[in-house]
This record gives sequence, C-alpha cells and structure tokens, in this order.
Amino acid sequence: MYDIAIISGDGIGKEVMESAEFLLDKLNINFNFKHAEAGFECFNKNGTTLPEETVKIAKSSDATLFGASTSTPGQPSPIINLRKQLDVYANLRPIKSYKGVKSIEDNIDFIIVRENTEGLYSQIEYGDDNQVIAERVITRHASEKISEIAFKLAKRREKQNKVTCVHKSNVLKKTDGVFKESFYKIAEKYPQITTEDFYVDAMAMYLLTQPQNFDVIVSSNLFGDILSDESAGLVGGLGLAPSGNIGDHNGLFEPVHGSAPDIAGKHIANPCSMILSASMMLDYLGEWETANDIKNAVEKVVADCKIRTPDLGGDASTIEITKAIVK
Ligand code: NAI
Ligand code: MG
Repeated sequence: MYDIAIISGDGIGKEVMESAEFLLDKLNINFNFKHAEAGFECFNKNGTTLPEETVKIAKSSDATLFGASTSTPGQPSPIINLRKQLDVYANLRPIKSYKGVKSIEDNIDFIIVRENTEGLYSQIEYGDDNQVIAERVITRHASEKISEIAFKLAKRREKQNKVTCVHKSNVLKKTDGVFKESFYKIAEKYPQITTEDFYVDAMAMYLLTQPQNFDVIVSSNLFGDILSDESAGLVGGLGLAPSGNIGDHNGLFEPVHGSAPDIAGKHIANPCSMILSASMMLDYLGEWETANDIKNAVEKVVADCKIRTPDLGGDASTIEITKAIVK
C-alpha cells in the first residue's frame, strides 16, 4: 500500500489528474490517495497558494502527484515552493519521439536533468523603480549533487552512456564556472561515461539540428526549464512531456505543462504527460514492471492514431484516450 499525495491544482491540472487516478485505480497495486490543495483557486479560498497542510501531506506520503497551477499575481509559485520544501533537487524530464507523432527526427531519446532548487529560480529579487536585480545562486554542493544524479542515470540507461553539461560560463564566469567545474569533478568518478559541455545558446540549436546525439543533459534551473520545453516541442508538444522531481527523501511527479486556461473545461486536454508522470512515480516506487506497462500502453495508443486528443491531431476527449490507455 502506497500513500500518494494528490495535488490537482487548477485548470487542466484537475482534468489530467482525474485520468491518472482513474488509471492507477485499475492497477493491481493498492494506493491510499490523500487529496490536498494548492494553486490559484486554493489562494482565493484559503489566502495561500500552498497551505502548510498540503506540504505536511506531501512530506508524509510515499510520493506526490501534482497537476498544474495557474500563477497568482503577487504570490510565490506553489510548485517551486513545494519542490523546495520537499528538497527534491533533481528535475528529470525525459524526451522521446513517439511512433506516429510528428517529430523533428525519429529516434530521439534523451533526458534533461535540471537543478531544481537554486539558480535564477531562487526567487530572490529586489530593487526600486529604476533598477531591479535577480540573484542567481549556484552552490558547489547543489551542482555536484545534480551532476551525480546525471551520471548515475546515464549508467542506468542503455543508450550512449553520455552526459552533456549545459552552461554559459563564458559570460556567467563565476556561477557557471562553479557549475561546470562541479560537473567535471563528478565525471572523474565515472570514467566509462563520455562527457561533453556546451554553451546554452549553442545547445538550443543542437537540440534542433542533432537531437538524436544526446542521452543525458544536465543543466542549471532556468536553462533546464527552457531547454525542456524546447525539447518537448521537438517530439509532439507538452501533451507528451512528463517529469519527476527527486530528492533523498521525496519524489514529486508532474506534467511539464501548466494549467492551460485556453482549453480548461473543454475536456480535451491530453492526459498522457500526467499519466507518464504517474509511470515515473511507479518507477521511483520500485514498481518497474507496471511503470513500463503504462509507458508501453501510452505508446501503443498514440501510435495507433485512432484515439487522440486535438493537440495530437485527433478529436478524442481526455477520458476517451484515458480509457484506451487503461484498456
Ligand atoms: P501551458 O503549459 O499551460 O500551455 C501552453 C500551451 O500548451 C497552451 O496552448 C495549452 O493549451 C497547451 N497545452 C498544455 N498542456 C496541454 C495538454 N495536456 N493537452 C493539450 N494541450 C496542452 O502554459 P501557459 O499557457 O504558459 O501557462 C498557463 C498557466 O499555467 C499560467 O498561469 C502559468 O503560470 C501556469 N504554469 C504552471 C506550471 C505548473 O504548475 N507546473 C507550469 C507552466 C505554467
Ligand atoms: Mg516550465
């Protein structure tokens, strides 16, 4: 029996979470779902985007599933705060081309490992009317930890055994100097794994011109965020982009997409990114076989082309594709 915190959030977060719960309920694994609130609607109700009770439930569960939240003016982001409070310092974003889905190249299969707790997302900003400053915090400790995760992952993957470090150390000499140094320090422990590093601007291009050459990509917070949305675009969009946030004691799994107010309430959101995030959660919990079955089921339904949501060119509803995946 696993205790799973369920934080649906706003907009399509709620719709795709219903799909994930529907699917998890059909498995031969027992879950105790603990529902908790966060996001814009939660703020309007409770005056906070992330109640203490929600953090408590997430901390005491075996893993957490998060849908998506709409940003609240003047309020901190609940998901960034939750990641911090759970100390889930590694954001894992697998990118894969799917059969039957328009992709820039076939055979794309890499994973972005994004540092999740510092960088430009430290949310330390100050200034006056004329000048505003954002602090970019990079520590050796966090940089080494994220590189370690990247190398461990590369060892586990069957593919190329390569880790690519992305930075901008020619301009951000101090902060990305530390990030790059930490990467090569950890690399010494993994002599069997190939290493390379690129500036983030060049990398943004290489992802378009040679995406099949990458295996594990490690980067700081903002660069990793931007590159992972770009990468999702290479292989069919945000509807197929899951993610996991891993720390030493907690795991938090969420689709890369937001609350999509433009399609919320229309029941046409693609639940695959949420369902694939649930599969990553099962992998984290050690339920490898079931995690794999879910991934294969999503691949099969998507490749089949018959039941697809509008973002993938079909006219199926969220629940129709969910049922097809369950079947
Ligand atoms: P978004 O990811 O919500 O939507 C971008 C575009 O992709 C929209 O056209 C949307 O319809 C489409 N899309 C996203 N997910 C989809 C799905 N599952 N199926 C079909 N189409 C999908 O990003 P946007 O519009 O920039 O942000 C909307 C709100 O979400 C904002 O308030 C933003 O702050 C918030 N947000 C929250 C995130 C989170 O909670 N982790 C992440 C990103 C944005
Ligand atoms: Mg993002």
